[in-house]
Amino acid sequence: MSQSLSFKLRVWRQASPDAPGKLVEYPVENVSPDASFLEMLDIVNDALARTGEAPIAFDSDCREGICGSCSCLINGVPHSSEPAVATCQVYMRNFRNGETITVEPWRARAFPVVKDLVVDRSAFDRIIAAGGYISVNAGSAPEANQILVPKPDVDAAFEAAACIGCGACVAACKNASAALFVGAKLEHLARLPQGQPERLRRVQRMVEQMEAEGFGGCSNEAECQAVCPKEIPTSVIQRMNRDYLRALLSDL
Ligand code: FES
Repeated sequence: MSQSLSFKLRVWRQASPDAPGKLVEYPVENVSPDASFLEMLDIVNDALARTGEAPIAFDSDCREGICGSCSCLINGVPHSSEPAVATCQVYMRNFRNGETITVEPWRARAFPVVKDLVVDRSAFDRIIAAGGYISVNAGSAPEANQILVPKPDVDAAFEAAACIGCGACVAACKNASAALFVGAKLEHLARLPQGQPERLRRVQRMVEQMEAEGFGGCSNEAECQAVCPKEIPTSVIQRMNRDYLRALLSDL
């Protein structure tokens, strides 16, 4: 049987959006190396509930790296320093026995803290609502070969569509820019024929909504790409910028 692990956890506790927050220490004993990070938080919460202390609030849904709702800075890095994983896919065997682990919520003006590790990411929903859709009448599923799409475009659209909207890109960026998220949502439509009719209108609306939400500008640091659990490349930002310029020029 593998040796159980112990840690010192430093967790950001904040009772409500306007309450002052602070890091609180909790010892964590006898954790299986095969426990996930969220399962470890569950164990801590069980112990807190037994003592009458409020459990640590954190988001999760699928726990399979699909929904994007789990979001924590682990030792200052979105989703931990493990590459290409969401917080729910981080395992305790990746930490040193006895290590101090600091857990904080995303830090960005556009993602206000709701409670403890939970932040309000509805700004992303409003950006999508501003234009991240197509309005062609799709009808029933067409014959697959009716609209031929070059393989590189299919692959790029699929790669961008893997974005789970977790917000790690914003949390990693010194400007709290949402450019990678918005670029990904634009890219998967811009690469496909169905996305062409509204392409320029879409980029203009989504970029303007991104700015209205208070996200910062992109200064080409590429920290977003480094922490993205789906490894979305920064080339989606370049296309977004080109299309946005075309949209502005076509308005002149
Ligand atoms: Fe769904 Fe982590 S809980 S991606």
